[in-house]
Amino acid sequence: MELAEKQAKLEQIADSIINRKIDIEIAKTCTNPVPGEGNPDAEILFIGEAPGAQEDKLGRPFVGASGKLLTEMLESIGLQRSDVFITNIVKFRPPDNRDPRPDEIKACLPSLLAQIEIIRPKLVVFLGRHSMNVFFPKLKISEAHGEPIDNSIETQAKAKLKLTFLPLYHPAAALYNGGMRQTLFDDFARIPELLKNSN
Ligand code: URA
Repeated sequence: MELAEKQAKLEQIADSIINRKIDIEIAKTCTNPVPGEGNPDAEILFIGEAPGAQEDKLGRPFVGASGKLLTEMLESIGLQRSDVFITNIVKFRPPDNRDPRPDEIKACLPSLLAQIEIIRPKLVVFLGRHSMNVFFPKLKISEAHGEPIDNSIETQAKAKLKLTFLPLYHPAAALYNGGMRQTLFDDFARIPELLKNSN
């Protein structure tokens, strides 16, 4: 797909999210929906959990403390935010930072799958166990982090889209834990090699 077509299709999805076309309560209660942002041709797609207070205020993903760490990690491997695409499983802030509920995840999943299908990244990086468990319900983040998984997802046209997935700890977990921060940077450092090896 040409870049302009990808851009237009991603905008369509973003518009429907911004216009709160997903029928769940948090779509009405949030301040600003957060569809996600970045390069439509990105080789890497990052998937977090749900917008927090800062994201809800600005309508952009990962712009608070976790986002600052994500930007730092990207820079550690020579990338900028504008090189990648960043989004969340759930596109609206759950009140009081509670975990997203299964019905909210289910309602937002078609938008996420459509984003993946349009971007066709080489690598899908899960930021935290919540996003990993949507795709791989049985995995434990303490065991799965930093280890790539080759798998495929089914597109809307029922074709198979082969992808490499990389589970990482959520940046928020590393903010106040020095050991986990190092683990996260070490896991992140594997990304360039994974990109090189994927076709
Ligand atoms: N945490 C997330 O999971 N997503 C964001 O966008 C911000 C913080």
